[in-house]
Amino acid sequence: MASSPVKNTYPHRHILGIEGLFPQEIAYVLEKSEEYVAQNRRADKKINLLYGCTIINLFFEDSTRTRTSFELAAKRLSADVINMSINNSSINKGETLIDTAATLNAMHPDILVVRAGLSGAVQLLADKVNCSVINAGDGGHEHPTQAFLDALTIQRRKGKLQGLKIAICGDILHSRVARSNIYLLITMGAQVRLVAPKTLIPAGAENLGVKVFHTMEQGLEDCDIVMMLRLQTERMEGNFFPSIREYFHFFGLDYKKLSVAKADALIMHPGPANRGVEIDSEVADDFSRSVIREQVEMGVAVRMACLDILSNNLKTEREMHPNEA
Ligand code: NCD
Repeated sequence: MASSPVKNTYPHRHILGIEGLFPQEIAYVLEKSEEYVAQNRRADKKINLLYGCTIINLFFEDSTRTRTSFELAAKRLSADVINMSINNSSINKGETLIDTAATLNAMHPDILVVRAGLSGAVQLLADKVNCSVINAGDGGHEHPTQAFLDALTIQRRKGKLQGLKIAICGDILHSRVARSNIYLLITMGAQVRLVAPKTLIPAGAENLGVKVFHTMEQGLEDCDIVMMLRLQTERMEGNFFPSIREYFHFFGLDYKKLSVAKADALIMHPGPANRGVEIDSEVADDFSRSVIREQVEMGVAVRMACLDILSNNLKTEREMHPNEA
């Protein structure tokens, strides 16, 4: 079992979003994740921490890295894990989200990891079950574990989050990654800038404590981190930009646009990256600047930490209220 010298300052049953979390809660998840980064780099990566614990990965939307890394995280902690991919059509055919939740709840899982196409759906499901729930992305709302892994990547590279200038660029409007990152980075004292065409910035974005820019030249100036986002065309209804070619010309990250950022600025992307749309291929593959692969590595550690923390909290809760589970 991984021994934790750090006091648990995340006393919740679920991880549904970053909004409203306190700095010490975020810091605890990051500290716990550090332990798992070290463990994952050892030859023997598996520990018995979650032996006997049942985890269900319930994905209503496509996912490669998030689903795989949650599965890997569960297996490295020796949990029993099953994956359920449910496409939207089968949910439309009959069973509602609530029915699915009730069915799964009857199987007594300990943790549900849920990705859903609708904002708020994971919260709704969490209200109907007795176990812990992790939001693996709900519509355009939140993707908390992505924000934790991005923060861990930045913190390890830059030694801090406080005071860093971080530009989040691209389709902010439809991005749950952007939303969760904004909440986390602002809470931890970073200076966040959003860079996108006017059509891809949510109304009232400035109220989140960020600065908004509509050119890469202004938005990237003197930045420590340049975080690129995919155009979420699956969530777009209507035209948000004239053409991919024009979008890449004005908002695609290339060396010229990057040149106004700090010389040691890091490039990030949650994946999947569309080369030639929001990022130039050469820049994405420049591993002296791009930490895209490191983000994937941090993803497994963060998800192990989240499973560890929630299973521990659930155990405490069940000990205190043995008849409610
Ligand atoms: C992101 C997502 O699903 O929100 N991807 C991910 O989790 N790695 C971003 C995206 O799909 O563009």
